[in-house]
Amino acid sequence: MPAQRLDGKACANAVETELHERIEVLTNAGVQPHLAVIIVGDDPASHVYVNSKIETCARLGIRSTHIALPAHCEEKVVRQHILNLNAQDDLHGILVQSPLPNHMDEEALTDLISPTKDVDGFHPQNLGRLVQGRTDGLLPCTPSAVMRLLKWAGVDLKGKRAVVLGRSRIVGMPAALLLAAKGADATVTVVHSRTKDIANVCREADVLVAAVGQTELVKPAWVKPGAVVVDVGINRVDDDARERGWRLAGDVHPSVADTAGWLTPVPGGVGPMTIAMLMENTVFAAESSHPKR
Ligand code: GUN
Repeated sequence: MPAQRLDGKACANAVETELHERIEVLTNAGVQPHLAVIIVGDDPASHVYVNSKIETCARLGIRSTHIALPAHCEEKVVRQHILNLNAQDDLHGILVQSPLPNHMDEEALTDLISPTKDVDGFHPQNLGRLVQGRTDGLLPCTPSAVMRLLKWAGVDLKGKRAVVLGRSRIVGMPAALLLAAKGADATVTVVHSRTKDIANVCREADVLVAAVGQTELVKPAWVKPGAVVVDVGINRVDDDARERGWRLAGDVHPSVADTAGWLTPVPGGVGPMTIAMLMENTVFAAESSHPKR
């Protein structure tokens, strides 16, 4: 039997319905949630992602500020924008789209964002809270999206073997922490480029999260029959057979659908849910900034 589709769009719709109510309560109390997105340079994929974030804000009634800077701009310009946004009382979330041009220090800029406005959850204070097992704050959006999809599919993680492919600061490591956190209670292995015998380690997983950015790396032989497979990869592949000359592919080969029990599609899986989690973080930041309302 082919894997059930772990549908990110449907799950994101359910999150948006919940958010509508919270946004209405805030707006009626005179606090319209407000997100600022800074993008530097011309990377077409990054512009597509940022435009999706801005469009989702508009659909939900979240105000957005879109700051687009040229690739050659100096780091101090981005720095000054962040400081201005930190000081703006009617603004609740700040996101600096990654990747930044090579001449910029991405971590130093992330550190500058006020932790209470860090809707990406990348600030050391927010990541530090997660390491401490405090999962009630601003959490990174993609790992949160993975957890919410698993919940939506009714996957009970308690005592299950979870394998996370990839150890990035943005996805792999925080996803591993969330899967192992109290309440989720999975037993987690993080697999990376130096891991020996990756296929066999992956095949032990009841839940496999692929976040390495390598096109269709995970093959059916890597997957335990019936496992839940979450594909975080969004890789652009040249494809002359398509009108536009390219297609999007995940880190998981589509034929894994014949082995897995659940599988997220690419596109339409983790991507829409990541944006939904960004919206949720923005609403949370707005609520936290006005706790008396
Ligand atoms: N680029 C790709 N994913 C992300 C993300 O989650 N946040 C930011 N800021 N940039 C990204």
